[in-house]
Amino acid sequence: MKIVRTVAALRAELREARAVRPAATVGLVPTMGALHEGHLSLVRAARRNDDVVVMSIFVNPTQFTEAADLAAYPRQEAGDTALAERAGVDLLFAPEAAEMYREGHATGVHVEGPLTATLEGAVRGSAHFDGMATIVTKLLLAALPDAAYFGEKDAQQLRVVRRMVADLGIPTRIVGCPTSRDDDGLARSSRNVRLSPEERSRALAIPRALEAIASAALLGETRTAELFARGEEILIASGVSAEYLAFVDPDSFAPRERLDGPVLCAVAARVGEVRLIDNVLLGAGATADSDAETIPRTPTKEP
Ligand code: PAF
Repeated sequence: MKIVRTVAALRAELREARAVRPAATVGLVPTMGALHEGHLSLVRAARRNDDVVVMSIFVNPTQFTEAADLAAYPRQEAGDTALAERAGVDLLFAPEAAEMYREGHATGVHVEGPLTATLEGAVRGSAHFDGMATIVTKLLLAALPDAAYFGEKDAQQLRVVRRMVADLGIPTRIVGCPTSRDDDGLARSSRNVRLSPEERSRALAIPRALEAIASAALLGETRTAELFARGEEILIASGVSAEYLAFVDPDSFAPRERLDGPVLCAVAARVGEVRLIDNVLLGAGATADSDAETIPRTPTKEP
C-alpha cells in the first residue's frame, strides 16, 4: 500500500495505475480515520467491485459544528495505516488540512432544501452538510473514482451525496453499504471508543428501540406516532434522551405520518458526551432511496 499526502501525488499514482491497466476501475472509500470494522466492510465492497482501491483519511474540520467534537475526534494514523493495508487498500490518501484547504480557499458546495435542513442539518447546523459536501466533492475531483463507498448508518449524508453527485454531474457511482454492527447490535462508529462501559451499555437502547419499532411495523403498525412512542419508551428507560427520533421519506427526508411506503426511522442521541446516530428502513421491500445502489451481495469481480 502506498501513502500519499498531496492531491498531485494521488493523481500521479492513479494516472500510472490507469496507464498500466487502462480498463482498471477505481473505488474510493472516504473516511475520517479511526477505522473500525464498518470502514473495512466498505473497503471489502470496493475490493470486490473495483481494481484499484483508494482510501482517504481526513478529519475534515469544516463539517464539525462544535470545536469540542473536532478536538475529541479520535486520531490514530499508525493503527489506521496497518488496518487499511491489511484490508486491501492500494493507495492511502492522508492529506493535511492545508492541502485540502489552501490559503485563500473560498468555495463551498451547498445542497439546498429539506434534505439538508432537517435532522442532522437542523441539530448540527447547515455548516455540517456544507462542509461534508465540499470535502466529498474535493475528494471525488482529486481521485475521479468510478465508484465511492458510503455507510448507510449516515443515511442522510448518503442521500445528500447522491443528490450532489447527480446535480453536479460527477461521473462517480455512489454505493451505499449496510450498517456494520457489533454483536450486541450497536452500530459501529469511530465515536464508540469514547463511551465508558456504563455508557456503552446504555447506548444499546438505541438499536433496541429501532428493533422494537421495526418489529411493531412488521406486525402491522403503520402509525409513526405509535412507533415513535414505542421507541421513545425504550430510550427513556435507559436514560438516553434523543435529539431526534424521526420518521421520514428516505428520498426527500420529509416527515411521514404513516408507513404507506418505505419510511426511514432515524435517531440521534447523546450518551454522555458522545453523539450517536442510527437508523432502520421500514416498509416491505423498501430500498434506501430513489437513486439507491447498494452493494451486490455476491462479488461481481474477484480481487
Ligand atoms: O462519513 C464520514 O466519515 C465523513 O463525513 C466523510 C464522508 C469522510 C467526509 O468527511
